[in-house]
Amino acid sequence: MKRVQYLRYGAPEELRLDEVKQPDPERGQIRVQVRAAAANPMDWKIRRGEMKALTGFRFPRGLGHDFAGVVEAVGPGVERLKVGDEVFGVTSIRQAGAFAEYVVADEKNVGFKPSSLSFEQAAALTIVSLTAWNALVAKARLRAGQSVFISGCLGGVGRSAAQIAKMRGANIVGSCSASGREEALALGVGEVVDYRAFDIALYQRRFDVVFDTAGALSLSQCGAMLKRRGMSLHIVPTPAKLFGCLLPSRHHLVFGNPTPQSISGVAEAFDRGQLVPAIGRIVPLCEAISAVVELERTGSPKGKLVIAPMQ
Ligand SMILES: NC(=O)c1ccc[n+]([C@@H]2O[C@H](COP(=O)([O-])OP(=O)(O)OC[C@H]3O[C@@H](n4cnc5c(N)ncnc54)[C@H](OP(=O)(O)O)[C@@H]3O)[C@@H](O)[C@H]2O)c1
Repeated sequence: MKRVQYLRYGAPEELRLDEVKQPDPERGQIRVQVRAAAANPMDWKIRRGEMKALTGFRFPRGLGHDFAGVVEAVGPGVERLKVGDEVFGVTSIRQAGAFAEYVVADEKNVGFKPSSLSFEQAAALTIVSLTAWNALVAKARLRAGQSVFISGCLGGVGRSAAQIAKMRGANIVGSCSASGREEALALGVGEVVDYRAFDIALYQRRFDVVFDTAGALSLSQCGAMLKRRGMSLHIVPTPAKLFGCLLPSRHHLVFGNPTPQSISGVAEAFDRGQLVPAIGRIVPLCEAISAVVELERTGSPKGKLVIAPMQ
């Protein structure tokens, strides 16, 4: 089978599309024929070696984490899923390898794909929606009438966060580029702020929750924006944020790891049409490397990059 992989951490030039042996599912794992996989900033952060402490030193390493496809084999101990099921999910951060014809994942990190979604839509929503769900629902328990600030409300995570906040009945202020104003309003953001003209003095003590998806705010800026019992949520860790969030405080780090609750929560929201993906581009596997490298260089995705290995 074909898989995008690399033999050492480093520049985009390390990426290659290789012919490799199909991976065998181990205990508790399934093998999925990948119909669609989506690119995330973590793909190139990991390839550059920025997360070595988590990702280890075993090579070759595949690229890509979230996927949607059809279960093609199950390992011992797998009980919930069976061959032929249409699923969506994420690989473990160590394993990766979703930009491939087949991928192996832990059964617990995979859910049934809602029939209302295409494989491309499901892949495009997975990590970003799980991250937003873990932040706003699992951690903040965002409620109707509360106020939330979402930095980067038109990014992958920010867009899912805005939709989840709207679904929970919260009042949303979101920051994005000035050109995204109408799109953000259409998503349910009540007040849209151009992040290049953001004046924090206008937003003191206004929010129950600040969700900094863009990694644009310091902990002290978030603290100033929060009401007395508010909390801030962070997904782009810096040494200062790691330290500040480890101490008991109202600032918290959040991760996109799936839980049974987040997988079923996002699947139900997809099915009800409350979480809608924005797909920017769909490419076949043979164009995955050039498309991912272009996204890494340009940033500013206008919707998710989806890789469709069967195209
Ligand atoms: N901890 C975790 O488990 C986890 C999970 C998922 C993602 N992440 C991290 O979270 C970050 C966001 O991920 P993503 O998938 O949403 O990325 P993305 O799709 O690239 O979106 C980033 C968004 O941030 C906006 N932005 C840039 N600078 C900003 C600023 N100063 N203020 C407000 N918005 C700004 C960008 O807008 P323009 O394009 O208009 O500039 C873009 O819409 C990445 O660093 C990713 O690695 C972490």
